[in-house]
Amino acid sequence: MNEISKRRTFAIISHPDAGKTTVTEKLLLYAGAIKTAGSVKARKANTHATSDWMEVEKERGISITSSIMQFAYDNHVINLLDTPGHEDFSEDTYRTLTAVDSALMVIDAAKGVEMRTIKLMEVCRLRNTPILTFINKLDREGKEPIDLLDEIETVLNIECAPITWPIGMGKHFKGIVHLLEDKVYLCEIGKNSKIGEYIIIDDVNNSQLDEILGEDTILKIREEIELIHETTTPFSLDEFLAGKQTPVFFGSAISNFGIQNLLDGFIQYAPTPKNRESDVREVKPDEDKLTGFVFKIQANMNPKHHDRLAFMRIVSGQYKKGMKVLQVSTNKQIKISNAVTFMSNERTFAEVAYAGDIIGIHNHGGISIGDTFTQGEKLTFQGIPNFSPELFRRAQLKDPLKTKALQKGLKQLSEEGATQVFHPIINSSQILGAVGILQFDVVAHRLKHEYGVDCQFETINIATARWVTGSDKDIEQLKIKAGNNIAIDARGMLAYLAPSSVNLQLTIERYPNLVFLATREH
Ligand code: G4P
Repeated sequence: MNEISKRRTFAIISHPDAGKTTVTEKLLLYAGAIKTAGSVKARKANTHATSDWMEVEKERGISITSSIMQFAYDNHVINLLDTPGHEDFSEDTYRTLTAVDSALMVIDAAKGVEMRTIKLMEVCRLRNTPILTFINKLDREGKEPIDLLDEIETVLNIECAPITWPIGMGKHFKGIVHLLEDKVYLCEIGKNSKIGEYIIIDDVNNSQLDEILGEDTILKIREEIELIHETTTPFSLDEFLAGKQTPVFFGSAISNFGIQNLLDGFIQYAPTPKNRESDVREVKPDEDKLTGFVFKIQANMNPKHHDRLAFMRIVSGQYKKGMKVLQVSTNKQIKISNAVTFMSNERTFAEVAYAGDIIGIHNHGGISIGDTFTQGEKLTFQGIPNFSPELFRRAQLKDPLKTKALQKGLKQLSEEGATQVFHPIINSSQILGAVGILQFDVVAHRLKHEYGVDCQFETINIATARWVTGSDKDIEQLKIKAGNNIAIDARGMLAYLAPSSVNLQLTIERYPNLVFLATREH
């Protein structure tokens, strides 16, 4: 129980450039996991550390696949699951969010709520994941803080409860007021790679502040704070845990400002590992027996060996080195002797791990996304979905003799979640679906280097896909009338590939007895 109550497992969601990498780095800095900032950033830019295992990643200088960082802070163990933040991202990003207990939303104060944040928030909503908000870049001119709260509330449909409040902005940014502690934190602005000092003053009405900030500034702030207390809803832990309210922190990650308050707030409010639904029953983290599910698979350093790392989120019990577990989908016992943990971004071998932790299991295929592992009980965790792809391409072989290798490659890559594959019922072509455009580059690269298949992808007139369920009779009707748009996915599920959203809408109306699903459970 003690180990579980220490754990906080979360991910950062943001639009590219809002400052996710910087915030990540500063969280590691404040937790003491790194000594100077710059290392995570360097990974993103040009030097390539552990997670940059693939050529494409190196060429583009970005981290495509999410990595996992575990670090300790204030007697807690924090698991931070990184989600790719680049323009082109993948389903991995979405699925990572199914393995966390909370999320931190980073917003650029000048840009407000952006497109990617809206999408990621929708995914968090599927499980009512509690969200903390950090409004970043206060050292630059941005939107008015009150307008930002308004925007979050209207666009993302979540109530805001400010925990801290900025004093000024841009050149005039002086620090923050902690609304719950009634303390004022004053700071030096600039690019700070090390933890700096700041002045802390109790009580916003303290006369010391008149001297330090000047009368005009402090009067304005006092008025603002009064207004904020009157017009915003106070923070409620229950509302936050229900995913209905977000505590909001302001700061400037680059200047290290507001990060400590954020980290302390996070430890205090963010939930410990949660119960999780399975097809049979709800599983609690403090149960004796180990259970967990795979939410991500990453091909490993040595492409020739097809060695892969399956990332398992532990739901209950304890992992111990060398233990035997049941892979429920195949009913096979496997021994995990060399699971990997992710202490501060370095892969180390795990001796023990607890509910909330992520371990990496080596395998050569055979483990798929969504797989559940237990110590014998036959249950399968729910809520690790495939998301409907938003981009589609048809695979075009350069050498027709490589058809078999292509099929094998695509099958394995779809097991890993690198892409989705659809087989139309009317011909033998292979259609790939992805959430981000870069996924196709990754697949092409890996087909070539790991399976020896040279392949091109041509655009195809499909806008979206829906998985279809219903009675055999209704499905037969659909196949007869709309056979050109029907395909079977890698798991044998029937999918409707719609050329446009209008077409999809008409089809849904035409077949009221069929269910068209935008996500598909594993
Ligand atoms: P991302 O992972 O969400 O894509 O964002 P990242 O942290 O890489 O930050 C994007 C840009 O915003 C970077 O600038 C970064 O330095 C800057 N940034 C992050 N936090 C702050 C902040 O609090 N204030 C200000 N003013 N800028 C911030 P860049 O020009 O792309 O990189 P760099 O040359 O500064 O390293």
